[in-house]
Amino acid sequence: MVVLISGSGSNLQAILDAVAAGRIPGEIRAVISNRAEAYGLVRARHAAIPTEVVDERDFPDRRAFDRALRARIEAYAPDLVVLAGFMLILGEALLVPFQGRMLNIHPSLLPELRGLHTHRRALEAGLARHGASVHFVSRELDGGPVIIQASVPVRPGDTPQTLAERVLEKEHVIYPLAVGWFCEGRLRLEDGRVHLDGTALSGPLQLEDLPAEALHREPA
Ligand code: GAR
Repeated sequence: MVVLISGSGSNLQAILDAVAAGRIPGEIRAVISNRAEAYGLVRARHAAIPTEVVDERDFPDRRAFDRALRARIEAYAPDLVVLAGFMLILGEALLVPFQGRMLNIHPSLLPELRGLHTHRRALEAGLARHGASVHFVSRELDGGPVIIQASVPVRPGDTPQTLAERVLEKEHVIYPLAVGWFCEGRLRLEDGRVHLDGTALSGPLQLEDLPAEALHREPA
């Protein structure tokens, strides 16, 4: 895998921990950030994983950035590209070559609340529940086929920060799970639909509906 980040990298950490524990049968070859100060780069270095910075502000335009980022990703020949809090919209040069091999996590119950500031918008909309979704990346922003979601209650007195923390706890469960399925060869995108264990999903899996053994499998 190659993991792309822009910030804190807590989802990266959850994936690193799952790899270290043998719950993901895969290897993170590199972590690439578009921000040199991203704390996730420190996490990667602690885990002795190569890091790179490709900052869009160093390029004349976004197409040039997309091409450069693609080249840096391809240098590691990943089977899977994991977007973990990577806060840029990707162009064709990145979407096409990695179709079906690129996952993203988004902090909402897609298709609700695509885009930014989802926690604030969930509060403003008075939603009773909020959450996170792991999906295959497609051309449509936050619009690719959803694999798994987890939801949390919105509580009286919540702020965007308290809600974000509650959602992040769930992100750290569902992202390593989906990445693990992909690395086991159980998860793939076919004809625009998510297949798990050879069967097309009729809709996103819900964390709360999964059997306990799906979450606590013994390492391979
Ligand atoms: C996570 O909440 C992730 O879902 C979100 O950024 C945060 C990154 O946190 N991603 C997006 O909003 C993508 N549009 P992290 O750096 O601690 O993993």
